[in-house]
Amino acid sequence: DFATRVTDSGKTDTALRGDYSHVQPDFTIDQGWDHYTSADHAMWRTLYDRQSALLPRYAAPEFLEGLTRLDVRDGIPDFRRASEVLDKATGWTLVAVPGLIPEREFFEHLAARRFPVTNWIRKPEEMDYLVEPDVFHDFFGHVPLLTHPVFADYLQAYGIGGAKAIALNGQEHLARLYWYMVEFGLINTKDGLRAYGAGMLSSRGETQFCIESPSPNRIGFDLERVMRTQYRIDDYQQTYFVLDNYEQLMNATAVDFTPLYARLRTLPPISPTEVLPTDRVFTLGTQGEGHKAA
Ligand code: PHE
Ligand code: FE
Repeated sequence: DFATRVTDSGKTDTALRGDYSHVQPDFTIDQGWDHYTSADHAMWRTLYDRQSALLPRYAAPEFLEGLTRLDVRDGIPDFRRASEVLDKATGWTLVAVPGLIPEREFFEHLAARRFPVTNWIRKPEEMDYLVEPDVFHDFFGHVPLLTHPVFADYLQAYGIGGAKAIALNGQEHLARLYWYMVEFGLINTKDGLRAYGAGMLSSRGETQFCIESPSPNRIGFDLERVMRTQYRIDDYQQTYFVLDNYEQLMNATAVDFTPLYARLRTLPPISPTEVLPTDRVFTLGTQGEGHKAA
């Protein structure tokens, strides 16, 4: 429920909501934790309580464990403190940013095991819909799984792969991998499908929709299939991809993407609703539900 990470460096900054006037060359800023108001912290608690009530039914167990470990119910987390917890778990730290940052810098942070987190929080009238990621999306959605060793290694590998994708003109294909597997990934567990993606887990509506709704397709992860699949940024997803485990993602992406990017350029994209004969289908979607407004 927010703009894609693939921002065109320089150009989009003026259109973004955060204050970019004090950024360092790597686009980080001071979080300014002391400047949050009690209303800001109350907004965090409201969002936190609402989501954490839903999560036991819908979220992957590894996400829930990470969330508990971070212990951030009380208010907008101080990134310095959360970084200590994270550093102990997997060697990651958090850096504050004013919002979306150019992809090159974004990839560089990930490659150095630094996760950029937006410092501002949404206003009450934006509880359910937000165009850009805020601290609730970035922190609540992304940080818990960074306590998981395999996922933590994966995200660093993704960052290293980012610079290479820029050099090989593979950004669009690589971005789809982030979208479907980091923002909107599902995982198959002994208790059924569960969500681990930050995009759905920071959204009340999509947390339920991605698991319960008959509308979307749920298809087994396949690297090339995912990288060919277009996505929409203005509504719930029409297709979700399902992992068997995080190692599957790590292993599938460990290969050199150079020939893959070359091959992908020769193949047509796949629409967000399409199902192929080769797909491992968990659920075939009706594509019926009116999404956001529901
Ligand atoms: N293996 C990929 C490459 O050679 C890099 C990568 C790793 C991309 C993990 C995404 C995720 O380009
Ligand atoms: Fe995100």
